[in-house]
Amino acid sequence: FVSVQLVSRAVQQIWRTPQSICATRGYLHACRSFSSNEVKSAVTPAEITTTPIPEITDAFPHLQTHESIHKFSLEQPDEFWGRLARSRLEWQKEFQVVRDHDMEKSAFRWFPDGQLNVSVNCVDRHARQHPDRVALLWEKDEPGQEERVTYRELQELVCRMGNVLLECGVKRGDRVALYMPVMPLSVAAMLACARIGAIHSVVFAGFSAEALASRVQDAGAETVITADEAVRGGKVIKLKQVVDAAVAKCPTVRQVLVASRTGAQVNMGPKDISLEQVLSSASTECPPAVQNAEDLLFLLYTSGSTGSPKGVAHTTAGYLLYASVTHKHVFDYRDGDIFGCVADIGWITGHSYVVYGPLANGATTLLYESTPTYPDPGRYWETVSRLGLTHFYCAPTALRLLLRYGDDWVLRHDRSSLRVLGCVGEPLNQEAWHWFHGVVGDGRCDLTDTWWQTETGGIMISPRPSAPGAHINAGMPMRPMFGVLPVLCDPSGKVVEGKRVDGALCLGSIWPGISRTIYGDHKRFIDTYFAPFPGHYFSGDGAYRDEEGFYHITGRMDDVINVTGHRLGTAEVEDAMTEHPEVSETAVVGFPHPVKGEAVFAFIVLKEELESSQENIVADLKKLVRSQIAGYAVPDEIMVCPGLPKTRSGKILRRILRKVAAGQPDELGDISTLADPTIVQTIVNIYNTQH
Ligand code: PRX
Repeated sequence: FVSVQLVSRAVQQIWRTPQSICATRGYLHACRSFSSNEVKSAVTPAEITTTPIPEITDAFPHLQTHESIHKFSLEQPDEFWGRLARSRLEWQKEFQVVRDHDMEKSAFRWFPDGQLNVSVNCVDRHARQHPDRVALLWEKDEPGQEERVTYRELQELVCRMGNVLLECGVKRGDRVALYMPVMPLSVAAMLACARIGAIHSVVFAGFSAEALASRVQDAGAETVITADEAVRGGKVIKLKQVVDAAVAKCPTVRQVLVASRTGAQVNMGPKDISLEQVLSSASTECPPAVQNAEDLLFLLYTSGSTGSPKGVAHTTAGYLLYASVTHKHVFDYRDGDIFGCVADIGWITGHSYVVYGPLANGATTLLYESTPTYPDPGRYWETVSRLGLTHFYCAPTALRLLLRYGDDWVLRHDRSSLRVLGCVGEPLNQEAWHWFHGVVGDGRCDLTDTWWQTETGGIMISPRPSAPGAHINAGMPMRPMFGVLPVLCDPSGKVVEGKRVDGALCLGSIWPGISRTIYGDHKRFIDTYFAPFPGHYFSGDGAYRDEEGFYHITGRMDDVINVTGHRLGTAEVEDAMTEHPEVSETAVVGFPHPVKGEAVFAFIVLKEELESSQENIVADLKKLVRSQIAGYAVPDEIMVCPGLPKTRSGKILRRILRKVAAGQPDELGDISTLADPTIVQTIVNIYNTQH
């Protein structure tokens, strides 16, 4: 369905060998483990259980191990997912059809004739069964001030919120943008959208007004929900001010609902509505909208290698089922556990493993408002101890930061409640893995390194659940989840079979949680994920399949970088910087950073006649990136150079710039294709004088 030419061009654009990525991107630990015979450290979890899946094992008693269930899930997907969907979800109308996929059009439908409401599945049915169980455990920025919201209270809040939205004229299918702190009202707002059939688009409350405005506009949202201020790590972030600046650029916005987080006095204009005021008079009953399984549940904007951030679209039943199944079986979630995922709700991890997965399973889920080091580097573990968390799911960048402060910050807090540890967002390097497992988990907790993406909706590859007697290898996600078929492809698009091989990480099966489209641009969806390797979903990552058949992630193969676990398109940073009137050209690459994983390195070429000093321009550029995107996108290094290495056809050779930024000028490779090879030495000289 795409021409051979298009495929080969796309493959050429994305292809860099995993080894070269490893070298340039700082994933040396991963490369080492598969290029030498060094013994990997494997641990046997204290208690290996094959998490029971009664829906499957009752009918097929021979399916007991992860491997056998996995095989079954791929061979008989209708049987497998059909059973799970019936047993795990409450349907308004039962489905007859499990899957309806059109690979030609990259159009995937799960349970297409079924109907269910996500808020009923996440709240009402648990409020019916155990109304007083805590649903949300809100760990506020200041330690010791936690608040608890039971399922009964959450149901009331969601209904009130749903009625407020209805009264504001929000209709089924309308997009509602959320720019909010991590607080119960934010979760209620997400679920309230689901209750009335509206589509939420949560924008991480660290994004700038400009970034918020572009997301609001792309989604065509008429309603924005925000708060007066957010507090994080003792610092106040003036959310309402950011929203005011964003809304000024968004003619579609009709109304802004403003919640109170700090109680600060904020400017209230004609479009602004005090959320608490309208909530107090709203009814606590709000009949759930009848939702088709394939109705959109939410959009979540994420960075790609080109162009502006894309609105990754997830639908109702498939997403919820996948979030619920993975939350249960990757984390071995059991009734009564207190599930702690410290991600912000503005990212997919927050959506799937703070909100939808845990609530679909009737869990008590943590809402973590603070940072890893506030008020001190023991905060995470003090929280674990005070709240009795059984699970702790976080980002490797936080672990790398915390391990530098020493073990004492961990050891002084009781962590005996912990059973399962997890990580996501970037490679978990060996040092951090061993620290997390050995020090935080006392060597007795399972540690699950989970690989997945905004687009996949839920966890795709992770060590758990393990077959009895299986081991967990340090620093790799290892095993595909149910329904997931990892496929490695070579640059020509051919599938690479066997073990000890690497390639572009693709998925050869379609699972219920896969994103259905990029909002308003299905062609971009096809071109990005399905055109590069026809018949497969291409993740953008490279991977290695080791001698045991387990998967290691080697890093992105495109121009996306991963800064403190946040995905960032280098093109976005370049676009922001080229707005500066004195900048003529820019090229942005990632370089290895001991804590952030990757940091941003910007090469810039200035115009000939300058009015400002170079120092001022560099300072301006940092401000510009902060105001156009977010703080985490600000380059660690900005280097002014007289030109950029380009091919004769004018294409910038980023491969060379990545080597320079990584401090590896001796490994530049072939530079003969450059229009002016001397520019490379000039750039290296400038780098050397500055480092
Ligand atoms: O490069 C991979 C990296 O994060 C990317 C997805 O980013 P995002 O959509 O923001 O979602 C992050 C949270 C799910 C992937 O393409 N990534 C994610 N998990 C891992 C990882 N890289 C290595 N190991 C992981 N466990």
